[in-house]
Amino acid sequence: MSVTDLIRSRRNIKSFKPDDIAESELLYWLEAASYAPNHRMTEPWELKLVGPDTRARLNHKTDFGHAPVVLAVLSKKGASAMERDENMMASACYVQNFLLAAHEAGVGAYWASLGALPQNREILGVSEEYDVIGVFGIGYPEEVPAAKPRTPITAKLTRLV
Ligand SMILES: Cc1cc2nc3c(=O)[nH]c(=O)nc-3n(C[C@H](O)[C@H](O)[C@H](O)COP(=O)(O)O)c2cc1C
Repeated sequence: MSVTDLIRSRRNIKSFKPDDIAESELLYWLEAASYAPNHRMTEPWELKLVGPDTRARLNHKTDFGHAPVVLAVLSKKGASAMERDENMMASACYVQNFLLAAHEAGVGAYWASLGALPQNREILGVSEEYDVIGVFGIGYPEEVPAAKPRTPITAKLTRLV
């Protein structure tokens, strides 16, 4: 599939098959994602593979769609407000790279925001130096939802003189 087709066909997945993902495959996509743009090579992303006890304590409403893997992605705040913003942007690029690499192999992800809540930061052992980008259920999709329509990009495009 072309990169453009991968981008268009990736969906946020909410239910997964129980089939495991080989850790070597997971690491392959996570490694590839590191080639994301990041200003001054801060490589701000940090990853936490969430084990069963921690996962249960997060108490997600659908247990991440019963995904076989749960991964938290953090972003280092850095030394200034600007660096924090830039690092979060870089970490979001990292996530999208990962999502596309996994999607190419037929693996989907459920992006959940709950990791940013104070009690969940504590459960995940996130220090004050990090933002939580998301907690991701990862696995082979049981169901792939239809794409939600997007606004034509020309409606968001302004031409400056
Ligand atoms: C920063 C961020 C946080 C998100 N948090 C959640 C979430 O907590 N729960 C959820 O169901 N989806 C979450 N999503 C996924 C979006 O809901 C999803 O990407 C959007 O509905 C578009 O669907 P698509 O990804 O299938 O195209 C999040 C996405 C982003 C970028």
